[in-house]
Amino acid sequence: MKEIALEYKVKTYLSLEELPESTQNLILLARGAANRAYAPYSGYHVGAALLLENGEVVTGNNQENAAYPSGLCAERTALFYASSAYPGVAIRALAVSTLSNDPVAGEYAKPCGGCRQVIAEYEDLSGKPIEIILDGSSDIMVVNGIDTLLPFRFKKTDLKKK
Ligand code: THU
Repeated sequence: MKEIALEYKVKTYLSLEELPESTQNLILLARGAANRAYAPYSGYHVGAALLLENGEVVTGNNQENAAYPSGLCAERTALFYASSAYPGVAIRALAVSTLSNDPVAGEYAKPCGGCRQVIAEYEDLSGKPIEIILDGSSDIMVVNGIDTLLPFRFKKTDLKKK
């Protein structure tokens, strides 16, 4: 048996002002998108904002449905729109923000497993890490690339015949 230790680095910022202006703007856009979410069933409002390499900014929020699985997360709403409007354009950064009816102190926005896999797909497509900015109730976490949030992930290269 061999034990392997994995090391991941994340950055946390205590205030918006500590971050570069473009990141601050992206977070504010994600917060605005969270305000417009359609989340009557969970009461958990999520907003996402993407900065693309061509300078375009795309936002999205969670859209729920009476038939629960028919809804979609904020991140995927934004990512799928970005890829449909600007196919092949690399994503530089993704900010995620939440507004809950029942907020938990010290918690960050946390993309679900399915959204992490979708973020990974677009990151692999461009070959450039996406800066992932997770807005929190006390501070803001910044992660460089999806590997930190989804280690040992399934990739399109896994589908290739050996
Ligand atoms: N949700 C998101 O939109 N993004 C996340 O990062 C986590 C969860 C949504 C899905 C659902 O509408 C609600 O939050 C509760 O799970």
